[in-house]
Amino acid sequence: MTASPTSAASTLAANVPAAATDPSTAAPPASAASGAAPVLSQRLRTETATQHERMHTLMAEGKPFADREAYARFVAAQYEFQRDVEHLFAAPELRAAVPDIDMRGRQSASQADLADLGAAVPTGPLATQHIGMPEALGWLYVSEGSTLGAAFLFKEAQSALGLTADFGARNLAAYPEGRARAWKQFVAALDATPPDVHDGAIAGANAAYDRFGALLRHHFDL
Ligand code: HEM
Repeated sequence: MTASPTSAASTLAANVPAAATDPSTAAPPASAASGAAPVLSQRLRTETATQHERMHTLMAEGKPFADREAYARFVAAQYEFQRDVEHLFAAPELRAAVPDIDMRGRQSASQADLADLGAAVPTGPLATQHIGMPEALGWLYVSEGSTLGAAFLFKEAQSALGLTADFGARNLAAYPEGRARAWKQFVAALDATPPDVHDGAIAGANAAYDRFGALLRHHFDL
């Protein structure tokens, strides 16, 4: 891809409200200023940063924009991951924590992209059958956060492969609300959760990153 993770991060940071995406440059939240525990979004970002780097490495190795066949392998991984995540949407506790949950998720978008690309829809087992709150919140964090990086992947899918938000690259397109707004609302939901759910949410985020990493390795034959 043309956008390196570093340049992608700096470009995106210019487009997304700093308070939502870049705690290093944002004013510290009230809890941090008062010496209280950091909010959940901050902990997730800091404590899963190595996992995010690992995704960059796997994506670089998989070369999803080499051609449409390679890209379809990425979409197959995305579909399976989105299916895992959307399976959690029925859980009443998750719905209570994220009231706008129904506007999220990209399972059907990924499925339509696979059809556009003439690729089979994977039918492997769900990974989230036995996941509940608070781990579910961490799974959703990984999925929602990936919509930020997807801005760059979307551009690449357009320029390298000629795909669009209506053909092949639906899964990378912004939500109708816009990426920054949807992310900001999600971060607000994360940060409204009580401290006793935070460790579980971070464990869930690690499991979700592990799952996406395993899917990338599987579909890219890495
Ligand atoms: C090469 C592929 C990728 C690129 C270029 C990329 C890039 C980015 C960028 C630029 C951000 C915003 C960072 C900021 O605002 O400072 C971001 C955030 C994030 N990305 Fe990625 N990403 C990629 C792949 C992934 C994948 C595969 C996942 C997970 C499945 C993922 C999960 C996340 C999460 C959870 C966040 C939110 C971090 C936070 O808490 O602020 N990314 N990514």
